[in-house]
Amino acid sequence: MSLSAHQSARAGKDEWLTPPDILAALGPFDLDPCAPVVRPWPTAAQHFTILDNGLVRAWHGRVWLNPPFGRAAATWMRRMVEHGNGIALLPARTETEMFYETVWFAADAVLFLQGRPHFHHVDGKRASFNSGAPICLIAYGVANVAALSRSNLGHVVPVLRRTAA
Ligand SMILES: C[S@@+](CC[C@H](N)C(=O)[O-])C[C@H]1O[C@@H](n2cnc3c(N)ncnc32)[C@H](O)[C@@H]1O
Repeated sequence: MSLSAHQSARAGKDEWLTPPDILAALGPFDLDPCAPVVRPWPTAAQHFTILDNGLVRAWHGRVWLNPPFGRAAATWMRRMVEHGNGIALLPARTETEMFYETVWFAADAVLFLQGRPHFHHVDGKRASFNSGAPICLIAYGVANVAALSRSNLGHVVPVLRRTAA
């Protein structure tokens, strides 16, 4: 499958699940505010699904966020910035308005994953193709920066500049 087909495959469907080895390397989370209704494994101690609408619920504790794709992602990322405790997963489109607003001007560190992960289907099966794009993990809060550093999942870059030019 071509690179562009990989990207549209990921973009066209919301139910691509985080590889469990990535979650295991980051330690336990208190809340996943956007989890599948039927899931093959827990991603946190508590999950909100589309049936709860995780965007309108109160978030608590250490949050794991792999947001729905497309324009909605910015709304989820703004909510993460407001919450300030957790780790988010995004394609590393580091030049975009959303990335500047919610990462370069608001996060504490970014880990660029080594290699391209294979996301999973809701039945737990690993996709036969990889993400088709570089993926990064974004830490909010010092404990989550430490978790990225310990994870050994890739290269960690601290975010030093927190205000717009
Ligand atoms: C990219 S998947 C990530 C799933 C899971 N958090 C993980 O990391 O493996 C995004 C998930 O968000 C869910 N979702 C979409 N809109 C939602 C909403 N308003 N509230 C809660 N979950 C939602 C989708 O059903 C999908 O399971």
